[in-house]
Amino acid sequence: MTHLYSKQSIESDILTIQDFPSRSDRMWFYSEVNSTMEVAREKANAECPHFTVVVSDRQTSGRGRLNRNWISEQGGLYFTMVLRFNVALAMSPRIVFAASYTLAHVLRNRFQVNAGLKWPNDILVQEKKIAGILAESCIQGNSLAFMTIGIGLNVNNEPHPIDQQACSIKQITGQFVSRKTVLTWFLDEFEEMLSSDQYLESISLWRKYAITLNRNVAIKTPHGTVHGLAADIDENGALILRQENGKIEVVRFGDCFFN
Ligand code: BTN
Repeated sequence: MTHLYSKQSIESDILTIQDFPSRSDRMWFYSEVNSTMEVAREKANAECPHFTVVVSDRQTSGRGRLNRNWISEQGGLYFTMVLRFNVALAMSPRIVFAASYTLAHVLRNRFQVNAGLKWPNDILVQEKKIAGILAESCIQGNSLAFMTIGIGLNVNNEPHPIDQQACSIKQITGQFVSRKTVLTWFLDEFEEMLSSDQYLESISLWRKYAITLNRNVAIKTPHGTVHGLAADIDENGALILRQENGKIEVVRFGDCFFN
């Protein structure tokens, strides 16, 4: 697998349009933006095609879930995809679960990185976060006009030492990794999953790599914290918690902590 690790420094690992010839009319590269979510939304509002991808080497205002910042230093992979889908709104969580499953699959099968999925869509290795996913939808009437899915993946960057909860592919494998290779593999597999409708099975696929299930967790929600055993996820991606008193709670949004 040594061919995967050809570039030797963050500075020389440059992504260009020539690296993605079959996607050149649908990919945009920047050295720095505020957030690829914002740039992608602008492109979507200007009617860009399905599966347009916005990539930036750095972000000055990278955003995470639940209004958190996403530190976006050089060496990581930061991109947002614009998806235009003629699907019922209820299907949109499956698209996001398909993205997290695909990224974990690429890390496991192509890089031998033992990635696991923490509800809802975090990707962890050795209990440390290697990637996060942020999804936003634009809804018109009862249908999904477009969806933007942003992914932040720690590749060759070294997450800050005070952030004990994060890691990168380079830290795990001890090797420098080509961001082009990671991005190509992910985009090809994810696009295939969407066009073949395999994304409809993403909730079952997600369970295969889940590290949240059958563990005692605390979920911080906007309405307070709920505790219980993470029993399963339902077909909408909501977490099914079995509380100590036997009561079942279905949690749709929140931040998951292992107890
Ligand atoms: C999370 O785990 O909280 C989600 C993090 C998502 C970060 C990515 S980086 C690319 C895209 N642009 C952003 O501003 N955020 C997402």
